[in-house]
Amino acid sequence: MKFLRGGILALMSTEKTFYIETFGCQMNAHDSEKVIGTLEHEGYTRVEDEEAAGLILYNTCSIRDKAEQKVFHRLNEYKKMQGEGKKFAVIGCVAQQEGEKIFEKAPYVSLVSGSASYRNLPEMLVRLEAGENRITGLDDRQTDETFDTEFTARSNPHRGYITIIEGCDKFCSYCVVPYTRGKERSRTSDSVLAEARRMADMGYTDIQLLGQNVNSYRDSSGKRTFAEVLGAIGQMAGVRRVRFTTSHPRDFTQDIIDVIDAVPQVCDHVHLPVQSGSSIVLKAMQREYTREWYLERIAWIKAAKREISMTTDIIVGFPGETEEDFEQTASLLDEVGYDGVFAFQYSPRPNTPAIHMEETVGVEVKAARLQRLMDRQRELQRISYGRHLGQVMEVMVEGYNRQRGQVTGRSSQNKTVNFTVTQPILPALGSYQTVRITQTFPNSLVGEAVSA
Ligand code: SAH
Ligand code: SF4
Ligand code: F3S
Repeated sequence: MKFLRGGILALMSTEKTFYIETFGCQMNAHDSEKVIGTLEHEGYTRVEDEEAAGLILYNTCSIRDKAEQKVFHRLNEYKKMQGEGKKFAVIGCVAQQEGEKIFEKAPYVSLVSGSASYRNLPEMLVRLEAGENRITGLDDRQTDETFDTEFTARSNPHRGYITIIEGCDKFCSYCVVPYTRGKERSRTSDSVLAEARRMADMGYTDIQLLGQNVNSYRDSSGKRTFAEVLGAIGQMAGVRRVRFTTSHPRDFTQDIIDVIDAVPQVCDHVHLPVQSGSSIVLKAMQREYTREWYLERIAWIKAAKREISMTTDIIVGFPGETEEDFEQTASLLDEVGYDGVFAFQYSPRPNTPAIHMEETVGVEVKAARLQRLMDRQRELQRISYGRHLGQVMEVMVEGYNRQRGQVTGRSSQNKTVNFTVTQPILPALGSYQTVRITQTFPNSLVGEAVSA
């Protein structure tokens, strides 16, 4: 490829080029990095312009109705391009959920695959190249295998993901994930540590462990607990930060807090979705914990030696949620003191038990409750972010805002920090800078670099 580059480019037909678009959670983003790596290993070249691509892949999300609508909207747009000899693949959660129905709705699609089948992508690609146009990867949801590949094309050279557990066995009554991602399965801790080691050797300093319920991780070789994996990665030479998301309250144990206390490289941030502050709603959601049980975990986190930042997810307007239930969610915000809340209106999803529950909360009430919750949280964050004023913290540089003359980055607690520097040369991307906080906002901090 190095020699004759121009010639090769001229010869490069659109057949072996691909364009990929990704929606959804971090797991989907990371799946795409693995899919890209796999395609590149199979001789494909990635292009940033869909017009120039022979194969268009769409990695989809179906967590809420709006996410799913986007997919079909995009597929309709693709329709225009079908005459150009392009091939289309729909992968991810909508692919798994809708399966072969996608071929009916969008006949120009040739490949439909859920994430549990990505291991078979090389073979599916061969069939695609041979001209098959009804290729499916939909039957692997009961697998014990995980999608481990050495060909991951990570998009950021400093901060990278490792999925340590795939799927979900929790079956919350509103959620599609157990159906779209299949049963829960963990990698061996040896393979996780080996991947972290390779990443550290390549210069990654910030490693984020992923799973729909990352702390439900059960080493398939039985060697290490989740907390031990966190600690071992944190102590690797070269690693400065190890993060983990998403934690499920059911499996949140004291040893996770202990490892955050013991190993400074394990980040002082826990994302612990509560979904509702009302035990009645939690029961209907099949979350398998109560408000009190959740708050007990929060009390453990607050008792840590290091201050640990907490964030959460909330669903408003679940069937049966009364004004009183909602008030309990709102009061939970005050009680916990989150640094971030991702709140969503309940969206009925196909295949889930909750779809059969009567929707008692109207659209307007749902929207109003969401707004009330977010307004309240913003005020709480205005105050809570204020605690950082005057503090000195380490910030990993992620970019530059030249207009404002600021460097942008992230703290160990995962907060956005915009700061100024006095040196004429800007600090390198991925470098760590010591910053004193001079101003605070509800969602970000402002500061100035100080010499360490
Ligand atoms: N496994 C994680 C969450 C994964 S999905 C956990 O259990 O905490 C990410 C978030 O999407 C959820 O936390 C929930 O708040 C939201 N979500 C999932 N299904 C939803 C639905 N049907 N309607 C609205 N929000 C939903
Ligand atoms: Fe969905 Fe519940 Fe599994 Fe989270 S734990 S992915 S909300 S079923
Ligand atoms: Fe969406 Fe699937 Fe993730 S539904 S949120 S892409 S697990």
